[in-house]
Amino acid sequence: MNCLSPSILSADYSILGEQLKQLDEAGAQYVHIDVMDGSFVPSISIGLPVIKTIRKCTERMFDVHLMIDEPVRYIDDFAAAGADIITVHAEACKHLDRTIEAIKEKGILAGVALNPATPLSAIEYVLPKVDMVLIMTVNPGFGGQKLIPYTVDKVRDLKALLEKTANKADIEVDGGVNLENVETLLAAGANIIVAGSAVFSGDIEENVKGFLNIMM
Ligand code: DX5
Ligand code: ZN
Repeated sequence: MNCLSPSILSADYSILGEQLKQLDEAGAQYVHIDVMDGSFVPSISIGLPVIKTIRKCTERMFDVHLMIDEPVRYIDDFAAAGADIITVHAEACKHLDRTIEAIKEKGILAGVALNPATPLSAIEYVLPKVDMVLIMTVNPGFGGQKLIPYTVDKVRDLKALLEKTANKADIEVDGGVNLENVETLLAAGANIIVAGSAVFSGDIEENVKGFLNIMM
């Protein structure tokens, strides 16, 4: 199934609860939550207390994207805060397999993310264990960047690899996704669409509906 996962990195944090309601009412299935540590990526964003608080505002799936070094240290905490999916970066884990197992032990969905320059071969052997692969379509760290064109080929290659092995994992794309390029990404094989600035600039509900019209 195709799902929209608006990234609240671009939200107005002074009215975050209201904006989450708007996303919900417009039909966005997931909420994408970007956690940045100022080490794995240059920025620092939000963390556990915010996730715990907004868990009361919506029942939608919390799609937590950890851009932090050695996320294995915090899996229990993010699961307890209300994550439904935890995605870790292959580049940030010394022991990726162990980290995926730690997520699965919590009874939630496990995702693995790859930076644009990281080859698919980095996750080949763990693919049967993961529920979702996140292909970064920009270098992580900031909202509002332009999609890097070669990452579309990577989505296509991942889709082919998953089909070859009859693997039903979801393919998520994140970074620079907008109403103009989303169709290309869907055609390449992506089915979970993250969008930050394209959802939160202007009328949120109208933007969500615009995406869902193309996706559904
Ligand atoms: C980037 C984050 C994204 C970001 C996307 O490091 O992982 O989720 O919020 O923002 P846009 O859609 O504006 O590129
Ligand atoms: Zn993200």
